[in-house]
Amino acid sequence: MLKNNLTSESLPVGLVASTAAGAVSPLIAVEHVFKTVSDSTGTLTILRDIDFTLAPRETAAIVGASGSGKSTLLSIIAGLDTPTEGTVRLAGQDLFALNEDDRAALRAQKLGFVFQSFQLMNHMSALENVMLPLELAGMRGARALATEMLQRVGLGQRLGHYPRVLSGGEQQRVALARAFVVQPAVLLADEPTGSLDFATGETVMQLMMDLNQELGTTLVLVTHDPLLAARCQRRIVIEAGRIAA
Ligand SMILES: Nc1ncnc2c1ncn2[C@@H]1O[C@H](COP(=O)(O)OP(=O)(O)OP(=O)(O)O)[C@@H](O)[C@H]1O
Ligand SMILES: [Mg+2]
Repeated sequence: MLKNNLTSESLPVGLVASTAAGAVSPLIAVEHVFKTVSDSTGTLTILRDIDFTLAPRETAAIVGASGSGKSTLLSIIAGLDTPTEGTVRLAGQDLFALNEDDRAALRAQKLGFVFQSFQLMNHMSALENVMLPLELAGMRGARALATEMLQRVGLGQRLGHYPRVLSGGEQQRVALARAFVVQPAVLLADEPTGSLDFATGETVMQLMMDLNQELGTTLVLVTHDPLLAARCQRRIVIEAGRIAA
């Protein structure tokens, strides 16, 4: 199988498509993605020719200095931001060939996303936040599933509490529970252990690895945490908007 430290250059699409198990199509294909932003002061290139694929069940850490473009890349993979050039395919579907509604539907069906800034609903309790994606998907048993997931991240005693009374790390765990609860095919998480103490970070890391093992969830994690990066099969290093060789 895949070894640690492979960069995109060392894993061309052809390799994924011709593994011994037969034809395994990439679950995520990022193809020549560029992102530039312009304002009155000029044009800034945030991402340059990002190109890699991830197979189903793979775990990848996106690492790099602050400002190198990691969050921007993750948002584009999630279809939450648009590339200036290039494409992203999720399960073969070109995300940006879809209209906004269809893209949102595909995202809801396949992706869990944990934002660097959590983005919880402030007028909803922890439990209601975690129930929300289940209810939007019309799934039964939302309350029980959400309760169980909050228990797994150590917040079983805080179900009725609103984000404003939770610490940063607690809010992060609610955000993780919300992303995990729908058991997505792909979990994209931006610094998921960034505001957690060592022990809680370890619990959350284990939860993500369990999801990967038990459900085959593909993980793409932006992280500054060397322990978390080391537990992923691949590391994709971004330097000033490019994949480092
Ligand atoms: N909409 C935007 N307009 C202007 N600049 C932007 C915009 N979005 C991102 N940037 C810039 O692009 C660069 C990359 O930002 P990004 O948030 O992707 O970095 P990052 O690698 O996630 O950093 P960190 O580790 O600090 O979270 C930064 O210099 C940021 O200021
Ligand atoms: Mg970031």
